[in-house]
Amino acid sequence: MIRLFEDLQVPPPDALHGIGQAFSADARHDKLDLGIGVYRDELGRCSAMPAVKQAELKLAIDSGSKAYLPTRGHSVFLDGMEGLLFDGKAPPEIASIQTVGGTGGIYLALELARRANPSLTVHFGMPSWPNHGAICGHLGLPARTFAYYDPELQLPSLDSHLEALSAAMPGDILILHGPCHNPTGRDLPPHHMVTLVAAAYERGVTCLIDAAYYGLGNRLDNDLELLRNMLVAAPDVMLVMSASKAFGLYRDRIGILLVNTGSAVGEDVVSVLGNIARTTYSVPAAHGAEVIGAILSDQTMTSTWLCELDVMRKRIRRLRMQIAELANGSPLFEHVPTEKGIFSLLPLSPEQVGRLARDNAIYMAANGRINLAGLNDATASRFVEAVIKQVNRS
Ligand code: LMR
Repeated sequence: MIRLFEDLQVPPPDALHGIGQAFSADARHDKLDLGIGVYRDELGRCSAMPAVKQAELKLAIDSGSKAYLPTRGHSVFLDGMEGLLFDGKAPPEIASIQTVGGTGGIYLALELARRANPSLTVHFGMPSWPNHGAICGHLGLPARTFAYYDPELQLPSLDSHLEALSAAMPGDILILHGPCHNPTGRDLPPHHMVTLVAAAYERGVTCLIDAAYYGLGNRLDNDLELLRNMLVAAPDVMLVMSASKAFGLYRDRIGILLVNTGSAVGEDVVSVLGNIARTTYSVPAAHGAEVIGAILSDQTMTSTWLCELDVMRKRIRRLRMQIAELANGSPLFEHVPTEKGIFSLLPLSPEQVGRLARDNAIYMAANGRINLAGLNDATASRFVEAVIKQVNRS
């Protein structure tokens, strides 16, 4: 008898979520988790932000409905996020839908594009977030990658993006990272980002912007202005804003996909997105949407949230400066002070990363990506010393 699951192809453990499992299994007390992209405070905690707690208290007292949300999501959340992005009301050509975190937004956006053009190719610079390629694979969309960096300068290159565009076909998708590139922390200058969106449109290519770390590298206003400018720079542009990091709602799986429909096709876009949602998870979950809706519709809670986000951004910035000082000119950490957000990509081999875990109980992604928020004033020097020592050994 043939068994259904006998020849199941088991994928390798997830490149990022797998790190947490190895970290948990390590019994050493001084272990450091610099893996998954989660903001942690000085004491290593990833607790609910004060504004989130206030909103949750309010919601508990108000005890709202438990009936299904509409497929498009919670209107208070959608209006709040659109209002935040546009500093007022969004223009009528902007369509939006609540998503299951950033991943769910990327999935919806790529599936929408696939339905419009089943033979499209998705282009993105490497290194990138591993789930970009994985979601393309899941949807059966070919992915074509190019070098995100200029190899000499080790900085993001506008030219390599423009070259990739010239090799792209009309109807293709170009994925761009919003502020605080994952995994490098090195962003193209804002005016290059907007130029790219317009250049892609000229070529018939649609940009999909993945924004998860807004407010963690630059002041939130600046990041929102950039995202807004990219979204309105050309019709069809899609923007996914995860709420996992900026609101610290990782486990509540909440985000938004905004589409610049350019005009009349807006309703069709929303209907197709609703259909994809309905056949994937039906309707979105309410909690994260209610929390963010409550924060953004209350001035006091909004101020509390903005202050906390600023505290987070400044802590990361301070850590970057501290690491640069401790590294005392070591080229390994050369870019750390100028990078943005919680990530840095250190020039380490997978073997060196493996030895740091084995000998020093320091866990990071196999490509050398570290989450700086996993460090604090007390652990930064041990970390810098261990990295320099392991690299000098090789
Ligand atoms: C990360 O890059 O670590 C985060 O975006 C979390 C994830 O699920 O990949």
